[in-house]
Amino acid sequence: MTGLPVELPPNKGGRVLSGARPTGRLHLGNYFGALRNWVTLQDGYDCFYFVADVHALTTVEDTQGLRENTREMVLDWLAAGLDPDRSTLFIQSRVPEVLELHAYLSMVTPMGSLQRVPSFKEQMRLRPEGLNYGLVGYPVLQTADIIIYLADTVPVGVDQAPHVELSREIVRRFNGQFGEVFPEPQVLLSETPSIRGTDGEQKMSKSLDNHIELAASAEETTQRVMTMVTDPQRARRTDPGRPWVCNVYALHNIFSSDDAVRDIYEGCTNATIGCVEDKHALANAINDYLWPFRERRAELQSRPHLVEDVLAAGTERARAVAVRTMEEVRDRIGFF
Ligand code: TRP
Repeated sequence: MTGLPVELPPNKGGRVLSGARPTGRLHLGNYFGALRNWVTLQDGYDCFYFVADVHALTTVEDTQGLRENTREMVLDWLAAGLDPDRSTLFIQSRVPEVLELHAYLSMVTPMGSLQRVPSFKEQMRLRPEGLNYGLVGYPVLQTADIIIYLADTVPVGVDQAPHVELSREIVRRFNGQFGEVFPEPQVLLSETPSIRGTDGEQKMSKSLDNHIELAASAEETTQRVMTMVTDPQRARRTDPGRPWVCNVYALHNIFSSDDAVRDIYEGCTNATIGCVEDKHALANAINDYLWPFRERRAELQSRPHLVEDVLAAGTERARAVAVRTMEEVRDRIGFF
């Protein structure tokens, strides 16, 4: 899949690590928010990407269909260009050493720091009685994920930045206590367009059902696009529209050519193009954009055991690193 390349930072060559909970088929928001950058980073870094299936257990809803969701998500990864020959693709739960490290890190993690993490405060507000111990420790496990592979660079969205900030604090405390074992990981924030869902207001998300799947058929995509909310003030076809408030226009900026974007802007503001026509044009542009991805995905999906084999090989590589790190960790801690 093509797309605007993110610019690689000058400090090429470190180890990148990122993960995603197994949410099943990915949507446009996931692609532009993370996956596209993961693909690009392969050119400059030693990349480790994993399925955060243990983290998925913190919210029980996400454990339904764990296997199927993992397979679908990893197919999307591969179809989008994550290359198992260049990147280590693996499953979090299959490297149990990370859970051991999580336990040791929990001993040097101040409770107050965990309670100040924004995502924790949010969960506390949303479901005070549904809070589990694992959710409080979410950033501790996330820290173990990063540092067990000695990763120094963590590409995540702004919402995850506080977690990595806490990872740095945990690393400083661990190193302070037991010696310089781990590098302090850095967040790599990349420029990502924020993708709103079909409701035109909220960020695209599967749970809000306002999303467009990368792997959807062209027909499904068109159907979804046709339900998109446009400028609410444009009540009649003859009313001039305001493209600057319209999410269909925002998406044209990503998927359509500069010329088409200019024509649509003009046609909308002088009411020569109606919203229906505008949406048809967008659906076609999205389908053209995703066509190579969808072809590749169908091809990958037809190969039996492909996902299993890729993940088995990646997990073996990842685990070898984790096992070495843990030998050092136990030694530094001073276990008999
Ligand atoms: N917390 C991340 C998310 O919800 C997933 C994740 C788990 C992660 N461990 C990680 C991301 C380590 C980066 C590094 O999307």
